[in-house]
Amino acid sequence: MKINILPFVAVMMSLTACGTDDPKGLKDVFDGQFLIGTALNEQQILHQDPKADSLIALHFNAIVAENCMKHESVHPSDGVYTFDLADKFVQYGIDNNLTITGHCLVWHSQCAPWFFVDEQGNEVSADVLKERMKEHIYTVVGRYKGKILGWDVVNEAIMEDGSYRQSPYYRILGEEFIPWAFQCAHEADPDAELYYNDYNMYEPGKRATVVKLIEDLKARGLRIDAVGMQTHIGMDYPDLAEYEASIQAYIAAGVNVMSTEFDLSALPQITMSADVNQTFAMFPRPGRPGEPMPEMTEEQKAAMDSIMAAFNAKFNPYTEGLPEEVSQAWNDRVMQFINLYRKYSDHFTRLTAWGLTDAVSWKNTFMAVRTDYPLFFDREYKAKPFVEQLISECK
Ligand code: GLA
Repeated sequence: MKINILPFVAVMMSLTACGTDDPKGLKDVFDGQFLIGTALNEQQILHQDPKADSLIALHFNAIVAENCMKHESVHPSDGVYTFDLADKFVQYGIDNNLTITGHCLVWHSQCAPWFFVDEQGNEVSADVLKERMKEHIYTVVGRYKGKILGWDVVNEAIMEDGSYRQSPYYRILGEEFIPWAFQCAHEADPDAELYYNDYNMYEPGKRATVVKLIEDLKARGLRIDAVGMQTHIGMDYPDLAEYEASIQAYIAAGVNVMSTEFDLSALPQITMSADVNQTFAMFPRPGRPGEPMPEMTEEQKAAMDSIMAAFNAKFNPYTEGLPEEVSQAWNDRVMQFINLYRKYSDHFTRLTAWGLTDAVSWKNTFMAVRTDYPLFFDREYKAKPFVEQLISECK
């Protein structure tokens, strides 16, 4: 008997993405274009925030761990692994059918200090560091083999001018630490995608070296699937054309591109003028860790208050909420990036926001305590206007 499957296909298609009557989320909006992800913090991983659980289920199909898979979290000392939270994070993804990214294997920051030194506190040899890297990567990647789509193998190794960061990895191993990390990750899970991830990826100097890095890895027969453009951005940086030029350059070098840590700060960038620095210098400094902060004189306290008031007026202007015109500009700017991602959706594979709601963004405490508005959902878990707009157009 010949069965005509067309009607069934039509029904199935109408049940996917924007074709259903179910409440729609961002994952329906971008269905067929790219994955849409969010970074999870500890509270969310532990299901201590039911509102977050619902938002994640409705809007996202991908997750990354904000902190719990980093070196210092999973490998605090030699021979000691602490996978409790990382395991729960991975289970969260599996239980909710979310694509999981592993973040990150090799990074100069949030790396346990023991990793680079011997028992006497001297920097280890190249051979020892290579062995330690291999053991770390094999253990972490091996544990989640088959559960994680891809890994940020190396994070933030290249500076804006295109030079290599002077990290302990680089000091001890030179440029070779990167191919070595990619080789180990591939051996540990041959099916996992492997990524190079960095911030300010739109800078021409960094772009050129990353392109060279991709070509070099490929020439050696090593696997690299994509680069992650972190995309911690502001209202006046980066220039969209530079950002697009980097997307094009990475694609031309033969990899996919992802926006891996998207947040758009609504606040002015903090800059310290020389006179403010000088004024700060006259205040007493905290002593060694554990020692009390020296008392300030009344005069110093008054001077500090007035500096803080001036600082907040300039750099923390929206503590009572975002003015309508700033919100409008913020939403317009997010849409400019989303339109770019859509334009390249053949090779643009994931957009991940670095956090769920404005309340939990690292931006609120980066360099100073401020009230920022960088993410897709506000402090009341309400979707930002651009999200509402995209969903309303998703018919
Ligand atoms: C970098 C890292 C992230 C995170 C942010 C700041 O971009 O890749 O893991 O630490 O800094 O929160």
